[in-house]
Amino acid sequence: MIAQVWAVRHGVETGASLRFAALSQGMRAAGAPATLVELATRASADEIRHAAHCADILRSRRRDVPPPETRLLFFGPRDLSAEQRLTYEVVAQSCISETESMATLVTLLDAASDAHLKIVLQELARDEVQHARLGWAYLAWAKDRLDLSFLSGFLPAMAAAATGDDLFQHGPPEADDPALLSAGVVPKRDRRRIYLETLHSVVIPGFEEFRIDTGPLRRWAEDRRRVVDALES
Ligand SMILES: [Fe+2]
Ligand SMILES: [Fe+2]
Repeated sequence: MIAQVWAVRHGVETGASLRFAALSQGMRAAGAPATLVELATRASADEIRHAAHCADILRSRRRDVPPPETRLLFFGPRDLSAEQRLTYEVVAQSCISETESMATLVTLLDAASDAHLKIVLQELARDEVQHARLGWAYLAWAKDRLDLSFLSGFLPAMAAAATGDDLFQHGPPEADDPALLSAGVVPKRDRRRIYLETLHSVVIPGFEEFRIDTGPLRRWAEDRRRVVDALES
């Protein structure tokens, strides 16, 4: 269970590295400030380092390291303009995924007792803060060039994609084992709670600062809340 989570993370990190490299190129092509382009380039390098930490942890557990993700996965609809698509991908990756991952890491950091794991988690959390910041800084630049209201209807799909496949589905009881925390894995039940809390406390207010209508995202979060209540009753 624990090794499997670190193996999945290895794939997530390598995939994120590819995406940040592409976002950096896209931002450069769109004429974004050099600081944003560089932040994205650095994020791409950070994710490679994160993947290497996942690989180390897998090896220390005598598990195979899966091959890196080689596909550049973007999720934005094809019929958006080039600038809208870039904005879609930056928002999905940085404002949503990285913000959520930061929240998970902070929880893990609090629980980690192993010294090496703590150092790794500290590094990851520190980097993810920057990766999330990139998204909000990008929006601050983009808002004067592009009408951001198109994002509103897409936010639920982005939030759903960022949860992974099965967060809001039934899992085996061992996925809820509190003992997972000390091995760097948040029990699923807690992960759901953290996910929704972070949406409400960070992600939704972040979009509202840019006057993006968060009604659809709020409704999605409400639906998930009901799913969680049903799962846990
Ligand atoms: Fe990462
Ligand atoms: Fe990241």
